[in-house]
Amino acid sequence: MPLTRRELLAGALGAALGPALARAAGANAKERAMTERTVKEVVVPTPASDGAGVLLKRSIATPTLDHLDPFFLFDHFGSERPDDYIAGFPMHPHRGIETITYMLDGSVSHRDSMGNSGTIGTGDVQWMTAGRGIMHEEMPHAGPRRLDGFQVWVNLPRKLKMTAPRYQDVPSARIPEVALRGGGRVRVIAGQVEGTAGAVREIFADPSYLDVALAAGETFEQPVARGHTALLYAYQGEVSVGAASAGRGRAVPSPRLAILSDGDVVRVHAPASPARFLLLSAQPLHEPAVRYGPFVMNTKEEIAQALHELRSGTFIRP
Ligand code: CO
Repeated sequence: MPLTRRELLAGALGAALGPALARAAGANAKERAMTERTVKEVVVPTPASDGAGVLLKRSIATPTLDHLDPFFLFDHFGSERPDDYIAGFPMHPHRGIETITYMLDGSVSHRDSMGNSGTIGTGDVQWMTAGRGIMHEEMPHAGPRRLDGFQVWVNLPRKLKMTAPRYQDVPSARIPEVALRGGGRVRVIAGQVEGTAGAVREIFADPSYLDVALAAGETFEQPVARGHTALLYAYQGEVSVGAASAGRGRAVPSPRLAILSDGDVVRVHAPASPARFLLLSAQPLHEPAVRYGPFVMNTKEEIAQALHELRSGTFIRP
């Protein structure tokens, strides 16, 4: 339900006066306390090279932004020149995280230590829970079209870091699409939009991963659980985030990552021309985290253990 300006002001007032007053306000207290998420910070992606020399735009896992609990990496790879990506990501390990690959265009072949292999093509998602350990290879194909896509890492909580590895391979056709009233549409990779549940489920961080296309002049409004970390990545056109209908939103051009403030709902508007963006949210873990290359663990000792197992050939367990 759209928030009126009055309701927003009431929410701000409620927050300022404290929970006791909000309780005293009675049945409407909850609704009045609804707040809109706004842009806290706009991050300009950093050019980076990873794997055997794949050029990409990195927004999380950079010298200035290590992580946004529980997101530990946000990469946008995309190029028309095969030389920028063809070297790929030869065999490498992961432990303690989930890696999510979403292809907009082109394709990547993968194979791993569990005996899985296949191709992730246009519109497909691979949600990999690395858990206690997996070795895999991700090799882009030089195609007639550009290569374009994203990889995101979501941290696993202490109790699941050593869980058995698991894949959720989701072909494009299985990703639900919700048509918006203004002509746009949302691909629901994870989470929920207007009662439509995403293709990827049963992930600890209770993530939402939406790919949204807006028509010129259209506004998208989406509830986001309070307390969850939320970010928006504009990759086509320009959007305005927060207080959208009042024309006071913050402009987010592409390609940019916008870190959102806490709140209950986010409103994104495409002012002048069509725009596309990812909207991601997940529950933060609030646990100590130590990153080393493709591992994210809770302690330095656990990182040393992973490296020791790699060297001694015991990293992959049957
Ligand atoms: Co990998």
